[in-house]
Amino acid sequence: MKAVRGIKQMVAAAKIIKAKGKTVGFVPTMGALHEAHLGLIRRAQRDNDFTVVSIFVNPAQFAPAEDFKKYPRDIKGDARLCKKEGVDILFCPTVKEMYPEDFSSFVEVKGLSGVLCGKSRPGHFRGVATIVTKLFNIVSPDVAYFGQKDAQQALIIKRLVRDLNLPVKIKVLPIIRDKDGLALSSRNRYLSGAERKDASVLFSALKLARGLVNKGIRDPREIVRRVSGLIKTKKKARIDYVSVVDLGNFGPVKKIKDNCLIALAVWLGETRLIDNIIISGKRN
Ligand code: PAJ
Repeated sequence: MKAVRGIKQMVAAAKIIKAKGKTVGFVPTMGALHEAHLGLIRRAQRDNDFTVVSIFVNPAQFAPAEDFKKYPRDIKGDARLCKKEGVDILFCPTVKEMYPEDFSSFVEVKGLSGVLCGKSRPGHFRGVATIVTKLFNIVSPDVAYFGQKDAQQALIIKRLVRDLNLPVKIKVLPIIRDKDGLALSSRNRYLSGAERKDASVLFSALKLARGLVNKGIRDPREIVRRVSGLIKTKKKARIDYVSVVDLGNFGPVKKIKDNCLIALAVWLGETRLIDNIIISGKRN
């Protein structure tokens, strides 16, 4: 495995691969790698000649009061995992090089960035869209891999790629969960024992929602009410949002139909976790 820090070096390495007519699969991450990241990496390897993984904790997607400083960083452990997985290039740029002092260009995906997580985290998706565009320009991947856990992020990136004609294919892979259903996340490391226990309520709430839809309930308000009720039974949990939206554009839905997304964000103490499921008005 080649570890690359410099942008120029990464651009040059990608050029060499391309000149050979080989394909590049790309997995952008913020590190603190877990099984879900590894799943994306394995898929990238299966589908492409070369795999590039990036690790960059992107300051532009954190608000000043958020956890940029304390975000888990374990570059040595991550590098070991990537090597073991057979990753070809690990790209870990510096903040200084990615965001020089007079950096002043941002990518904004309007509309989609203003709902759900975008509402609670203003500027977050501008930061994500900007860094992902930069990474795509540097790595020149044929295919880039993202997780459905960050459903809004995945949709925003697909929209961005379409709107700006970026020459990359986006693949979104299903959510990987722990034994009790909690979606894997680098932020799960923040949870205390009691918070970790209560965190299983996110998936229980989504399963409850699916059950209600299967019983014939079609009113999103009823589902949000029941789901919120269940989450509130947990002492450590505080709801940020519970929403039912159209999977295609994240707009509101009046009645559950095919391709709806039930998405939620819940605080467990100081840690904000997100999760979602896709449901259909037919059977789930
Ligand atoms: P990060 O949180 O490290 O996630 C990297 C990728 O792993 C994302 O596509 C995310 O959706 C996926 N992922 C994380 N947990 C997952 C799970 N339990 N199941 C399936 N996929 C999962 O997302 C980011 O980094 C950043 O915003 C980034 C895109 C790198 C831009 O900075």
